[in-house]
Amino acid sequence: MSNKNGVPTESYKGVRDFYPEQQFVQNYITDTMSMVAESFGYTEYSASVLEPSELYRGKTSDEIVNEQTYNFKDRGEREVTLRPEMTPTVARMLAAKRRELMLPLRWYSIPNVFRYERPQKGRLREHWQLNADIFGVGGLDGEVEIIALASEIMRAFGAEDSDFEIRVSDRGLLESVFDELNLKDGERAGVMRLLDRKDKIDDFSKKLEGLIGDKAAKLSELLGRASSSKNLEELVRRLEGLGVTNVVINTAIVRGFDYYTGIVFEVYDTGGENTRSLFGGGRYDNLLSIFDEEPLSAVGFGMGDVTMKDFLETYNLMPEYESNTDLYLCTLDKDVVDFSTRLARELRSVGLNVEVDASSKKVGDQVKLASKKSIPYVICIGEEEIKSEKFKLKNLETGEEKEVSKGDIASAIWS
Ligand code: HAM
Repeated sequence: MSNKNGVPTESYKGVRDFYPEQQFVQNYITDTMSMVAESFGYTEYSASVLEPSELYRGKTSDEIVNEQTYNFKDRGEREVTLRPEMTPTVARMLAAKRRELMLPLRWYSIPNVFRYERPQKGRLREHWQLNADIFGVGGLDGEVEIIALASEIMRAFGAEDSDFEIRVSDRGLLESVFDELNLKDGERAGVMRLLDRKDKIDDFSKKLEGLIGDKAAKLSELLGRASSSKNLEELVRRLEGLGVTNVVINTAIVRGFDYYTGIVFEVYDTGGENTRSLFGGGRYDNLLSIFDEEPLSAVGFGMGDVTMKDFLETYNLMPEYESNTDLYLCTLDKDVVDFSTRLARELRSVGLNVEVDASSKKVGDQVKLASKKSIPYVICIGEEEIKSEKFKLKNLETGEEKEVSKGDIASAIWS
């Protein structure tokens, strides 16, 4: 929609405005992610959305870099990219301070990332993505912890284990199957891409045959056999020991990035409503080689806010909007505004969030507005209240009214 000046009021295609109700949901999602990540000892880091474009070229995913990044030249002719993911950034940050940082490291961040995708269910052009990564832990220990963390976040959102499934596979196994079939590099990349899109396309077998001819049948057979991998079975068993029982081996999981080197995983809604993967990750031990650094053991995942919000809506797990404001002070006339402002200041100093309405609107309208904003309590202030120092505290949800003195307002709200 445009006004007569031709200036659009809607946001840019594929990104969102967050009005207070939506920001509330967003905060709920990111606060829950942070809380669980921190409970596992992960510490927060952050970085700019702007990165030099060479950070991505040929190192992550051709599809994302060539078709989905936002690139531009700055005024100094430098090529700049809006980060399409956080993993190259965190690798860059680690490489820059490799000698100072003590391993292992557990880091998390919830950046906004940008991908020029066709906006559709579960896919936008800007999303926020929890990245939780553990550096310097080899064997299966890194995977066990990262998947346990992912599962704990789902539970913190109120999901039951039966609502979602954690599908695990191993890039290493896939490579050995490719070796056995003598696939050339180009064929490997093509098959990998095809496997990654398996769920989204109808004619998978035909396309696979188109790529590798009569090796297609053998590939399916070898992939089937690969599901009885010792490593994956041990991973499933160890997670079961931690009470994570919804892990299944599925060798069709490959993940879209070139940098994964070992175990990879994707989490799916089991209900069928959200067909796209909810989130995923895996082991990527060689990403530091971009910076000519020694390999560093790394496992992590990216969990997006858009797919998570869809999931929470599907399972009715979205909390109801709550205002951060505890109390709304309505003023009967202009003369009581200064008193109300001072009262608000006192109440804030003990920890209440207080808004003062100095609009001179009818008091009934002021109360209505407080209710519309979902503020739980109001006090209407007039000359009488100022004289008697007694205030009627009204709970807008129950309609209950209670007479309190100034010193008791906070405790009455908190009781
Ligand atoms: P990714 O699979 O590309 O992985 O993205 C992770 C998650 O971000 C997806 O599963 C989905 O939840 C969300 N996501 C991705 N693209 C979009 C989009 N266009 N719109 C909405 N949500 C989206 C990575 O980015 C890896 N760097 C994750 C990682 C961290 N691996 C190891 N550490």
